[in-house]
Amino acid sequence: MEIKIQSLAEIQEAARQFVEAMGDNTVFALYGKMGAGKTTFVKAVCEVLGVEDPITSPTFAIVNEYRSDIAGELIYHFDFYRIKKLEEVYDMGYEDYFYSGAICFIEWPELIEELLPGNAVKVCIEETADGARNVTMESMA
Ligand SMILES: Nc1ncnc2c1ncn2[C@@H]1O[C@H](COP(=O)(O)OP(=O)(O)OP(=O)(O)O)[C@@H](O)[C@H]1O
Ligand SMILES: [Mg+2]
Repeated sequence: MEIKIQSLAEIQEAARQFVEAMGDNTVFALYGKMGAGKTTFVKAVCEVLGVEDPITSPTFAIVNEYRSDIAGELIYHFDFYRIKKLEEVYDMGYEDYFYSGAICFIEWPELIEELLPGNAVKVCIEETADGARNVTMESMA
């Protein structure tokens, strides 16, 4: 599926459409260049999912967790941009998150590509020439 976001004013509606398309999937790998809008989109989606905790880039922590009454369990938000060795990802116990059945949003998944579960959903965010964003969602299998 594909969602076009013309401006930030439309992001909430885009996030609503995205949530409808999520289905039973739990692991979402968000691809996109630096500044494409991954964190901003995850924030909008988490807000639609009822998160009231502050949603920020987990660059330094690697993973943030948010409470969501709608999801009924924690939502995990990863940013692997600063990962230097896969060892660090093993050490943080990534499997306990990715295979927990809880929703996981992953920024910079290309840095841990081989650790992504087979059922992860590929989400691509691209900035177009006019500053709009294009979001696509497809299964990785
Ligand atoms: N849909 C959008 N429309 C207009 N501006 C946007 C949109 N999404 C994000 N932006 C703006 O783009 C900038 C970068 O957004 P964001 O931090 O979400 O990018 P990112 O992909 O997470 O970057 P990084 O790779 O550094 O994590 C912010 O200033 C944000 O306000
Ligand atoms: Mg980000």
